[in-house]
Amino acid sequence: MSYGSGTEVDQRRPALTITPEFKADSLRRYAELRAQGPVHRVRFGSGLEAWVVVSYEEARIALTHPALLKDSTPAEKALAAVGFIMNKPGVGLGGNMLESDPPTHTRLRRLVAGAFSPRRIQQLGPRIQQITDDLLDAMAPQGEVDLVEAFTGPLPITVICELLGVPEGPERRDFRSWTSATLGRLSDEQRAAALKLNQYLAALIEHKRSEPGDDLLSALIAVQNQEDGQLTQAELLGTAVLLVVAGHDTTVNLLANTMIGLFRQPEQADLLRGRPELMATAVEEFLRYDSSVELSTNRYVAEDLELGGRQIRRGDVVAVALGSASRDAPQQNGGEPDVIDVERAAARHIAFGHGIHHCLGAPLARLEAFIAIGSLLRRFPDLRPAADLPGLSWTPTGMMRGPLSLPVRFTPT
Ligand code: HEM
Repeated sequence: MSYGSGTEVDQRRPALTITPEFKADSLRRYAELRAQGPVHRVRFGSGLEAWVVVSYEEARIALTHPALLKDSTPAEKALAAVGFIMNKPGVGLGGNMLESDPPTHTRLRRLVAGAFSPRRIQQLGPRIQQITDDLLDAMAPQGEVDLVEAFTGPLPITVICELLGVPEGPERRDFRSWTSATLGRLSDEQRAAALKLNQYLAALIEHKRSEPGDDLLSALIAVQNQEDGQLTQAELLGTAVLLVVAGHDTTVNLLANTMIGLFRQPEQADLLRGRPELMATAVEEFLRYDSSVELSTNRYVAEDLELGGRQIRRGDVVAVALGSASRDAPQQNGGEPDVIDVERAAARHIAFGHGIHHCLGAPLARLEAFIAIGSLLRRFPDLRPAADLPGLSWTPTGMMRGPLSLPVRFTPT
C-alpha cells in the first residue's frame, strides 16, 4: 500500500480486517502498520470501517481533539448498518461517562471521582491482599491450574463487586460472562448476557434504596436522592454497569498478559523476586508492554479534519490502538520497546488512555497489579506455563487483548 498518496477512495480502503486470528499476533501486526504511517483504515470484525491511530503522538492528539467526540449522531448510518448498539442506555455500555461528552461527562465523572482517588484506593490495599492470598491458598495444593480461572479472573471481579456492594452469591460467578459479553459487537446471546447484567444491577439498586450499605452503589443512590436532577436513573444504572465492565476484563487481561510476558522473559520474573522494590515501576512497564485495552472506545468525527496525513470526514469513526501507541514511545523509554525491562525508568505509555476519559480506575488497577503479580511471584517461585504459549487462544473482541485461558504449573504446597 502506498501511504499518503492515491485517490480518496484508495485512502479509505481498509488496510486490514481485525479478525480473531489477528488478535493472536496483533502487536506485531500493528508494528508493521506503524512502520507505514500513524493512521490507517481498518475493518472491525463487526464489519464497521474505522480509522485506527497506531502511533504515540497522533494517539495523544486524537484523544484530545475537539472534533473527535462520543456523540455518535454523525456516524449513525454507518453504525446502524452493522447493528452497532453499544451507545444505547440499558444495553451494553450505554448512558455513562465513557460514552458522554462534556458537560454530561464532567458531571457523571465528578460524582464517582472521589471514590477512586489514590488515597481512597490505597485504603483497599489490605483487603485486596487478603483476597489475593485466599485465591493463592486455594491454588497452592493443586500444582496445575488455569491461571485465568483460578486467579486473574476472580481477583478483579471480587474487588469491584465489594467496592460496589454486590453481595456474595452465585451471580458473582456469572458476572465474568455477563461483563465480557457487554464489550464488542453484540450477538443475540451476548445481548442476552448484557441484559442480565443490567437487570441484576437494576434490582440491586432497588434493594439498596431501602437497605443502603457502606458501598459505592449506596453512595450513588444517596447522591441521586439529595441532589435532584444530578443523576438520572438511567445514568445511575449506566455508571454501575460501566464500573463493573471497565473494572473487570481490563485488569484480568493485564494480569494474564503480564504473566505471559514474564514467562517469555523468566529472568525478569527472577529479578522481581530478588528485588521487590522494583515492583512499582515494573507495573508501569507491564502496562506499557502489553496493555490489556488494545483499542480505545470509538470517537465519532463531528467535523472534517486531518490526522497523521489522512483526510478524515465528518461521520467517520476513529479508534486508538493503545497497545501499539504504548510501544511507540522509544525515545522516552530508552529503546527496545518489544521487551519487558522492569528496571526501565518511568515507562511512558498510554494504556489508560489520555484526555478527559483517562481511566478513572487507574489507581485501583495499579494497586491490584502491584499486589497480584508480586504475591504470585513470591508464592510460586517455579511458576511456569503448562501449555505452548504461541498456541493460546485470545479474546475475540476488538477492544480487549488477553488469553482466554492460561494453564500453569508449579510445585504444590
Ligand atoms: C476508562 C484502561 C481498569 C474504570 C478507561 C480508558 C482506558 C482504560 C484506556 C479510556 C477509554 C477511552 O478513552 O476510550 C484501563 C486498564 C485497566 C483499567 C488498562 C486495567 C489494567 C479500570 C478499573 C476501573 C476502571 C479497575 C474501576 C472500576 C474506568 C472508567 C473509565 C475508564 C470509569 C471511564 C472514564 C471516563 O470516561 O471519564 N480505562 N482501565 N478502569 N476506566 Fe479503566
